[in-house]
Amino acid sequence: MNTARNSAADGPSVAVVGATGAVGREMLAVLEQRAFKHREVRAFASVRSAGQKLAYRGGELVVEALTDQWPPSGGGAIDCALLSAGSGISKAMGPKMAASGTVVIDNSSAFRMTAGVPLTIPEVNPLSVAGLVRKSGGGGGAIIANPNCSTIILLMAVTPLHRAFGVERLVVSTYQAASGAGWQGMEALERETRAVLGGEAASATVFPEPYAFNLFSHNSSVDVATGRNVEEQKMIDETRKIWSELGVGLGGELGGSGVRLSATCVRVPVMRAHCESVNVTLSRETTLAEVRAVLARAAGVRMMDDRAGNSFPTPLKASGGDDVLVGRLRVDPGQLPTGVGAGVDLERVSTRGFDLFVAGDQLRKGAAQNAVQIAEMIFGGS
Ligand SMILES: NC(=O)c1ccc[n+]([C@@H]2O[C@H](COP(=O)([O-])OP(=O)(O)OC[C@H]3O[C@@H](n4cnc5c(N)ncnc54)[C@H](OP(=O)(O)O)[C@@H]3O)[C@@H](O)[C@H]2O)c1
Repeated sequence: MNTARNSAADGPSVAVVGATGAVGREMLAVLEQRAFKHREVRAFASVRSAGQKLAYRGGELVVEALTDQWPPSGGGAIDCALLSAGSGISKAMGPKMAASGTVVIDNSSAFRMTAGVPLTIPEVNPLSVAGLVRKSGGGGGAIIANPNCSTIILLMAVTPLHRAFGVERLVVSTYQAASGAGWQGMEALERETRAVLGGEAASATVFPEPYAFNLFSHNSSVDVATGRNVEEQKMIDETRKIWSELGVGLGGELGGSGVRLSATCVRVPVMRAHCESVNVTLSRETTLAEVRAVLARAAGVRMMDDRAGNSFPTPLKASGGDDVLVGRLRVDPGQLPTGVGAGVDLERVSTRGFDLFVAGDQLRKGAAQNAVQIAEMIFGGS
């Protein structure tokens, strides 16, 4: 048997496409862990992986080669496809899948900026998929895009501030893990680190720069006119699209299409989970105490801000977890009025500038978990 079936015979049939990859494997782990009722799972990858076995819910899934036939042979219709096999496969297969009645939740960048395709983070813009909810099966296919992982992690932390105070400007620096580039990225980090520890000179094997004991500007291509790399541009464009759809209570400038964002994206020698240093300028003044209170009650956010213990978010603390960790919360001294200095209660002073440090597991909340949460919203969680 090449599918896993739940004891409950209802719920959607699910295909995980790219199941042998870094995101696909996490997709299966998230499907096992969450209460998303589904009647079967089928795992697809390239022909190279056909026949490979993947553990799932005490049994195993036999990987099937994805062909251009959809629905695939060997079973019935597929209600939901979780796609993480790269943008080429998404572009080739996504529309065909949707036309056959499958709800496609796509992790690639193929459709993120396509007009009419929801770009969804369930805690941020759940209304973007409101029209797609399946109340009793059927309802036709659709494509929904998962945002870029760095965008998801950023917006989980700053959207609660945007809702409460308005965000006028964001300056973000990322510290991105090897697994953000899939299994090849992870293998490169491990292989190159072992080589250097074994006495060899550092050399680049997958990325343009050596990875062991190094860091480098994100490996996506750079636009020579703007100087921005593709990852940085995605953060700008996707934030604008997502915030422009927030709607209720956030009209005009706060609707988001005009948000000013500057990003510097960097790959660091960390296996898993991205971190981001964020400087935020709010639309109106508030206090650090109020910012802290807003973040403390934000869904999917966990405060980790122990100044006395010098204990803050790290990739290891974020790895394997569902929450985006937020800490190093502080007033931006560069935005305090001149003359405000020593002796001022920085917890109570009114200002528009704050700094924070964020860590999130980009394979989970930045990809698989976010996709399964979207599926839960559409098909019902349990
Ligand atoms: N890694 C992240 O943190 C992350 C986060 C958000 C979004 N994403 C996006 O998710 C997608 C997958 O990323 P990843 O990191 O999981 O990459 P990966 O580790 O390289 O895995 C790629 C997967 O795609 C499959 N695949 C490749 N060519 C195929 C084909 N012709 N037909 C069917 N399956 C094929 C591979 O199967 P084989 O094993 O058979 O080659 C593998 O399962 C990318 O679009 C990426 O941008 C990744």
